[in-house]
Amino acid sequence: MPRQPVLEVRDLTVTFAGERGVARVVDGVSFDLTPGRTLGLVGESGCGKSLTALALLGLVPPPGRIAGGTVRLDGRDLLLLPEAELDAVRGRRVAMIFQEPMTALNPVFPVGDQIAEVLRVHAATPRRQAQEAAIAMMARVGIADAGARAGDYPHQLSGGMRQRVMIAMAMICRPDVLIADEPTTALDVTVQAQILDLMLEMQAEFGTAILFISHDLAVVSEVADEVMVMYAGRIVERSPAVSLFGAPLHPYTLGLLQSLPRVDRRTGRLPAMRGGVPDPCALPRGCRYSDRCPEVENKCRTRDPALNGAGAGRWVACVKVAP
Ligand SMILES: Nc1ncnc2c1ncn2[C@@H]1O[C@H](COP(=O)(O)OP(=O)(O)OP(=O)(O)O)[C@@H](O)[C@H]1O
Ligand SMILES: [Mg+2]
Repeated sequence: MPRQPVLEVRDLTVTFAGERGVARVVDGVSFDLTPGRTLGLVGESGCGKSLTALALLGLVPPPGRIAGGTVRLDGRDLLLLPEAELDAVRGRRVAMIFQEPMTALNPVFPVGDQIAEVLRVHAATPRRQAQEAAIAMMARVGIADAGARAGDYPHQLSGGMRQRVMIAMAMICRPDVLIADEPTTALDVTVQAQILDLMLEMQAEFGTAILFISHDLAVVSEVADEVMVMYAGRIVERSPAVSLFGAPLHPYTLGLLQSLPRVDRRTGRLPAMRGGVPDPCALPRGCRYSDRCPEVENKCRTRDPALNGAGAGRWVACVKVAP
């Protein structure tokens, strides 16, 4: 039996108002996160992945604003919570890890103290106990000699070790939901694989629901059970990972997959996708992908496709694939 979702996102919309009009950079995005499962979110730079993640916790930076939608955690809409209550949810029930741990870690405190602080704030754990738990968690995320490393400052650790610290901070309160925004993008391939393994181990242990954001399809294919493809603020395809990578439905998903480097190709050239992402203030009429789509037809330039069911748990926003 499928498990009940822990986080339900409906019609989430984020706008930026500028001199050239209002840009809907996240436009009516809906999805569920389920305990123990990983939902991938992919798309080119600027398509709205990070703003989707930030909006879930009410962290959209001004002048951006959440213009609509609901984010229900156990049925409670987080977007309606007073700031103090939302603050209690952040870190304890819903945790985030980012690409660059240096910006999330405080440079002037030892990392052990920063992990312990999460427990002290969210679980009112006494200082001594929180310190011990922090060191145990550092050991758990694979930091050798954790007792000594706990006294290190962020700059004394390697990028991979800092990302392990971030995971320890994120997981120490056993959150129901983990939002991971490009968590391994800055790391070299070997360290990247270790960090992904660690995330999945923690997920298995705690039953965490994960939203895994990356522009790197190869990485997403390794961790996600299901994948959403985002284009210009919209979800254009949502499918189980196996079917999405095996037989993409949306022409944009196909384009992304074809632009992946392949070792088995001998030409040495990557088939780059033509064109660039559209200006959010000047979207093409009809389908937002119509000006780049190799399969475009006249109707694509007039009809704005909805995300329609395509069978076998698949959803696609394309008038040709799912009219
Ligand atoms: N401060 C801002 N003012 C105006 N527009 C903004 C601002 N911040 C972001 N945007 C718009 O929101 C869009 C989505 O940004 P977002 O950071 O979510 O993209 P992303 O998919 O995470 O990209 P990346 O892969 O590079 O991280 C951007 O294309 C940009 O047009
Ligand atoms: Mg981003």
